[in-house]
Amino acid sequence: EVAFLNGRFLPLADATVSIEDRGFQFGDGVYEVIRTYRGRPFEVAAHLARLDRSARAIQLHQPYPEARWSQLILEGIERAAYPESKIYLQVTRGAAPRDHSYAADLVPTVVMTVRELQPIAAAVKSRGVAAMTTEDIRWGRCDVKSINLLANVLARQQAKQTGVYETILVKDGSVTEGSVSNVVVVRDGSLITAPEGPRILSGVTRAVVLRLARDHGVAVHERYPSQGDLFAAEEVFLTGTTVEVLGVVEIDGKTVGSGQPGRLTNRIAEWFSAQTV
Ligand code: PDD
Repeated sequence: EVAFLNGRFLPLADATVSIEDRGFQFGDGVYEVIRTYRGRPFEVAAHLARLDRSARAIQLHQPYPEARWSQLILEGIERAAYPESKIYLQVTRGAAPRDHSYAADLVPTVVMTVRELQPIAAAVKSRGVAAMTTEDIRWGRCDVKSINLLANVLARQQAKQTGVYETILVKDGSVTEGSVSNVVVVRDGSLITAPEGPRILSGVTRAVVLRLARDHGVAVHERYPSQGDLFAAEEVFLTGTTVEVLGVVEIDGKTVGSGQPGRLTNRIAEWFSAQTV
């Protein structure tokens, strides 16, 4: 593995931070996850723009300009030399004696790791996955990619304990997103997915997929799918850096559509694949 901490690459085991880091004590920080295709980082500019937006939203000074990050990411990938890599970036507000409020002069802690990416097995992609719904108990700024992930952690663990792949979060009857992915519902041949805003993370994969769909003449409705939409859907799929485009074939024990990844899902997955070469 490759680790980077506050300006230098070092062995992962040596990459340690203070127990007073506000990331550790308060979850006071932001992050990104980027993956490579054919060894090249995918949609880096979009990820770095979102890192900047997340940092700005919590008044965190994100010290590295885009060019520095881009260069570090390339260097990390090169050092790691994996067939495909998963790059994790994290910036926290820094270390200080514990106090909810913070001083203006804290030095942010900047972290990057590069790990080997294990692609989703082809068999899982072709069969699709099962999901469950649960209440979305997260805070009011889910557009900020904050390292405060406790509600996502609990949702994901619920999926694991239930023996399904993903948890679909529902807020006041509206489908927001998954615990680690965005959710797209297909009804009458068009896509329905939660609009950008404080209730969801504006997914980089989501943006690529919606653009591809529109380019191919598929109608896209950015409105919250209802739970009714979810269960009446012809198809449901997830989007995300780690899941790519992944068909959901069962939700809360009920079969979605034909019980296989849908036709549109498969076409969109193909269009998406073509972007990654
Ligand atoms: N998560 N929604 C949530 C809550 C997420 O955590 C993610 C990604 C997405 C998809 O966004 P994108 O397409 O930009 O990856 C949507 C990353 C992979 C993670 O936390 O590991």
